[in-house]
Parts: sequence; C-alpha cells; structure tokens
Amino acid sequence: MASLYSVLLRWLEKNRGIIVVLVVLPLSVVFSAYVRLRQAALRWLAAGPQLHDSRVIKIQAQVKRWAQRKPSERKLLCTARPNWQSLSTTFFRKDLCEQISLPLYNILNLDEKNLVLRVEPLVTVGQVTSYLVPRGYTLAVCLEVAEATLGGLAMGVGMTTYSHKVGLYQESVVSYDVVLGDGSLVTATATNDHSDLYYTLPWSHGTLGFLVALELKIIRIKPHLKLEYIPVRGQKQYCDLMRRVSGALDASAPTPDYVEATVFSKHSAVVMVGTFSDVPDHERHKVIPFCNNPFFRYLFGFLLPPKIAFLKFTTTPGVRAMTFTKQVFQDIVLPMNQLEDQINKSEELFDIYPLLVYPCRIYDHGPNRGQLRPPRQDQLVPGARYAMFNDLGVYGVPRPVMLKKPYDAVKHMRLMERFTRDCGGYAFLYADTFMTRQEFEEMFDLTAYERCRTKYCAEGAFPHLYDKTKPEIDVVEVGKRYIDPL
Ligand SMILES: Cc1cc2nc3c(=O)[nH]c(=O)nc-3n(C[C@H](O)[C@H](O)[C@H](O)COP(=O)(O)OP(=O)(O)OC[C@H]3O[C@@H](n4cnc5c(N)ncnc54)[C@H](O)[C@@H]3O)c2cc1C
Ligand SMILES: *[C@@H]1O[C@H](CO)[C@@H](O)[C@H](O)[C@H]1NC(C)=O
Repeated sequence: MASLYSVLLRWLEKNRGIIVVLVVLPLSVVFSAYVRLRQAALRWLAAGPQLHDSRVIKIQAQVKRWAQRKPSERKLLCTARPNWQSLSTTFFRKDLCEQISLPLYNILNLDEKNLVLRVEPLVTVGQVTSYLVPRGYTLAVCLEVAEATLGGLAMGVGMTTYSHKVGLYQESVVSYDVVLGDGSLVTATATNDHSDLYYTLPWSHGTLGFLVALELKIIRIKPHLKLEYIPVRGQKQYCDLMRRVSGALDASAPTPDYVEATVFSKHSAVVMVGTFSDVPDHERHKVIPFCNNPFFRYLFGFLLPPKIAFLKFTTTPGVRAMTFTKQVFQDIVLPMNQLEDQINKSEELFDIYPLLVYPCRIYDHGPNRGQLRPPRQDQLVPGARYAMFNDLGVYGVPRPVMLKKPYDAVKHMRLMERFTRDCGGYAFLYADTFMTRQEFEEMFDLTAYERCRTKYCAEGAFPHLYDKTKPEIDVVEVGKRYIDPL
C-alpha cells in the first residue's frame, strides 16, 4: 500500500502540469460557477444592505449567549467559514472552537464625495471590482485575486502592485466595525477612542474580535492601463530600476501606477510598469516571447487560473504534509534596499525561479502601535515617513526536491525566516510559518496587540495570534521525516 502510494506521489509530481490542465482546470471552472451561484444565493438570502444592523445584532446575540456560559464550558471563538473556502494556506483547527456564523456579503454604501466605500467583510475583490470599475473607481489597494474577501484582507494583510503609492491594504482602511468577545460593538478609526484597536486589527487574523463592516478608500481610474515590459540584464541593473520606478530613492519622483517584476535568474528580470490611460495605445503593445505557449493559451488560457479554494478542498492530510515539505508557497515583506540579498538568499535556500517582486510602502506609525515595527532609519525613503519594502513571492518546488536530493524544507524555511527577521521584514501569516513563539515575537511587535487583547475582552475569547497562525501539525517533526521520503 505504502509503496503504491509513493509511486503514485512520484508520478503526480512528475506530471503535475498535465494533471492541472486536464483535471484541476476544468474542475476549477465548474467549481467557480458553483461558488458564484452560491454567493449570489447567499447575498440574496442575506437580504440586502438595509438589514445590515439586524444581522450585526444577531451576531452580537450569539457572542453574548456564549459569554454567559460558565468559563469551563466556553471554547474559544472563531468564524464558521470553513478553512477550504478561505485563501489562507494554513489550516486552523476550527473544529476545536465555538464557530460564530457571519453571513455578511453586502456592499453597504458608496460615498463618491469622500471616495469611501462601506462594505460587509465577506464581499470579495471580484464582487467589489465589478461594482466599482463601471462607476470609474477601484479600491486604493486592490488585489488581483478575485476570491479574496475584503474582511480577510483587513484582518490579515493585503499588498498589491499599487502599494508603492499607498502602502499595505490597512493604510486604505478608514474604519473597522468589530464585535468584541463580550458581544459589544465598537467602531475603530485612526483618530477615535479605539485607535489602539485600529492599529492592531491588521495582522490580527480574527484574534481580537469579529469584523462586521469596514470602510475603504477608493481611487478614480481611467478606462485603460498602458503596460510596459522592460527586460533587464544584470542584478544591480534590475534592482536599481525597481527602486527607481517605485519611488524608493526619491519620494517626490513621479511613479507609474502599477509596478511589478518577474525575476527569472540572479541576472535577469522583466520589470512591468502600468499607467492609467484614457485611450488604448496600440503602438506600444508588445508580445512577451517567454513561457506563454500560444497553443496552450489558445486552448486553455480562458480556464486560468485554477481555483485556490478548490485546490484546498482536495488537500488531504498526506498532501498537507507534502505542501510544506516538498514545495514552497511564501510571500515575504522585505526592505527594498536589500533586494539583491533577498534574491541571493532565496536562490541559496530554495533555488526557485521565477520570483515575484512588487514594491510597497511601509509607514512609520510610531513605536508599539501595531504588529509592524517602525522601519529602520536606513530603510526610510529620503524625505518621507515611510520605507520602501517589497513582496518577495516564492512559489514552487525547490530545485533539490526536483533533483530528488535530500532536502529539509522546514529547515530552509526557518533560515529564510531568520533572514527576514534580521532585515526587519515580515512573513505573511496566511501562509505557513515555522517560528517558535520567541522568534515570532522578534518578527512582530506584540506590545500593543497584547494590551488590546486584555482591554477589548479578547483574552479567553479568541485564540492568540501565534496559536491561530502556526501550522496545525508539528512541522519540524514532519520536516525531518520527509527529508527523503521516497
Ligand atoms: C494564489 C494566492 C495569491 C495571493 N496573492 C496575494 C497578493 O498578491 N497580495 C496579498 O496581499 N495577498 C495575497 N494572497 C493572500 C491573501 O491576501 C490572504 O490569503 C488573505 O488572507 C485573503 O484571503 P481570504 O479573504 O480568504 O481571508 P481569510 O483567509 O478567510 O481570512 C484571513 C484571516 O482573517 C480572519 N478573518 C476573516 N474574516 C474575518 C472576520 N469577519 N472577522 C474576524 N476575522 C476574520 C480569518 O480567520 C483569517 O485568520 C494570495 C493568496 C493566494 C492563495
Ligand atoms: C548576489 O550574488 C551575486 C552573484 O553570485 C554576487 O555577485 C553579488 O555580490 C551578490 N549580492 C549580494 C548583495 O550579496
């Protein structure tokens, strides 16, 4: 049995592409249609924006009923949304918690004068985009992932190719409405009595309260986007270009609206810049010659991308162990002045290409305000109160694994995490992390977070951030066991 399993695993790894195209993609399309229908039905059942208040009162009532029970009969609280539906690649043990259902799927209000949109947390990026774009707007920080929810991004983290202009998603949040562990409802803004909560809710992953509504900044857009692909040879050359176009060298320099790079090796990358435009500009259309096989695009392009939720739905415990022992799925927030180091480190530890790089402002909000520390002095953009960081996206199978060499993925991930801590960077917590509690607290500043947990009745009601986001299995053990499984 075991050997049949390992033969099958090996075959699947070798032929992953075929499986994805022939099985996962078509199923994804069917599944997407099902999810869209289901969401439409849920929106319909949730009966419109005007009933928002009564929905929130019901949620408060569920929490209050829980709070009245004897402490020994109270399990910690979490949302009832099943893990497989969320984009987080971690699997938190929701079955051990008291699950509160939050049927909040509505767009509540568009304030065109102040450029603010009020929504319920389960509104998705796809839903809000099809609502805003025809009206001439988009979210100030709008992910490319249509299934991501506006609430999930607010309680976790959101970062996109527009972030060099505005920063992380949390910088675009105007207010959060939160139901606390005692069932009370508070609104937190950057300047009101609950500003401490405002700054600790991002990166809290639902461990301070239930988000029931939020207000987001939106921006005006033009109908077209002019994209330019700039192939660059030489590491210093493409790193310098990224720093220049993102505005990392000079806060007053004009920057394009979107910036992203695909790094193909230590020495070559393509930098992509996009600028809003009123008219389509046919002159500048270029075709990129790499990786896009025309037959594939013609036959299957319309099916892309595979549905993440669907891929997760099929994640069995065996596959789950494989997901972090044989492949890497990491987004890491690192300072752009060390872009060369990041790429070298990633090659040394994983040797996976291409890498994704896009810039993001990290603001200095003062010490002990939220889970992110103020950027270091040498990271600040001259003349600004923010630093330029970037997302380093490493996705795929490490080269040693492909070559069937012994490889302890967990050990290498932990080395990457140490590098991240050393440069004052952060690991996205939606993906697996491998830190001890002490290491976690070196990376994230939990001073204000712990204060808010006590002050806002989260202690004893919601799991702690570290416990909520660490893998549900003993990764170090599994990592060792899987060094050479076959
Ligand atoms: C293929 C892929 C690409 C991605 N690309 C990007 C990217 O470009 N940029 C980026 O920033 N991120 C990216 N992500 C990560 C994504 O931002 C996170 O997964 C994020 O958590 C959004 O997912 P979600 O809406 O399903 O939230 P969830 O995973 O459901 O939620 C995130 C956290 O918030 C908590 N939470 C959710 N709703 C509530 C609520 N109402 N009250 C309290 N707590 C709540 C959840 O318990 C969870 O801990 C990507 C992920 C994948 C899989
Ligand atoms: C990155 O690697 C290249 C090639 O191996 C090397 O020349 C360069 O000095 C390295 N950069 C840093 C910052 O370590």
